[in-house]
Amino acid sequence: MNKTIFIAAAFALSATTAMAQNAPAADPAKVDAIIKDMFAKVSPEWQARTNLDETQRVCTDSRNQPNAQQAEAIQKRELATVVQPADGKFLGDWKKGFQVANTGTGGQFSDRPGGPIGANCFACHQMDPKELSYGTLGPSLAGYGKDRNYDPQVIKDTWTKVYNAQAVFACSNMPRFGSMKFLTEAQLKDVMAYLFDKESPVNK
Ligand code: HEC
Repeated sequence: MNKTIFIAAAFALSATTAMAQNAPAADPAKVDAIIKDMFAKVSPEWQARTNLDETQRVCTDSRNQPNAQQAEAIQKRELATVVQPADGKFLGDWKKGFQVANTGTGGQFSDRPGGPIGANCFACHQMDPKELSYGTLGPSLAGYGKDRNYDPQVIKDTWTKVYNAQAVFACSNMPRFGSMKFLTEAQLKDVMAYLFDKESPVNK
């Protein structure tokens, strides 16, 4: 690349980066109205999903950068929604947990009615170190239980994390699987077992 082109390319890149970091000039109310309009023809139940709850509103308005006070309020509010397993047992069947982690259907327009509902953990996390296909938005969870010595307190804390990621980290990109009633208690236990069972491929 000759020097002039290089400088021009570098300038274009820095200009794009600067633009991406600035809040857009668009009026948030207009953006909300456009989104609502896009979903105008779906059932009222689906339309309701475009209404942001208080946590989503603060995260949207702060572009996922809540100040310390907002972050504390979010974590407190979200933690209050976490329900511990009724029988006190956090771990189910890791084989079923793999299905939960590896299924990306559920909660979408395109779903087959009555079809499987999964959490698609693999879309954001490495889990089984032998699996080649995974996303990297979240940290690797390979060896998760083993690396933490299967510590009972960590197991308890991870239940909270998977039940409601924002109870631990305000404005996390990770869905609130338990609190949003997306996964059942049994599915949560199974995916927990996928992370913490000694026999799970995650810990091999
Ligand atoms: C849309 C992406 C996304 C999906 C899907 C997702 N996660 Fe996450 N997860 C994240 C991100 C981003 C983080 C790091 C930020 C945070 O801690 O919230 C994270 C953090 C975590 C952590 C804490 C890791 C640590 O540092 O100890 C655990 C455990 C976890 N996820 C488990 C799961 C499980 C289990 C599933 C499926 C049931 C899942 N995640 C699905 C994005 C996701």
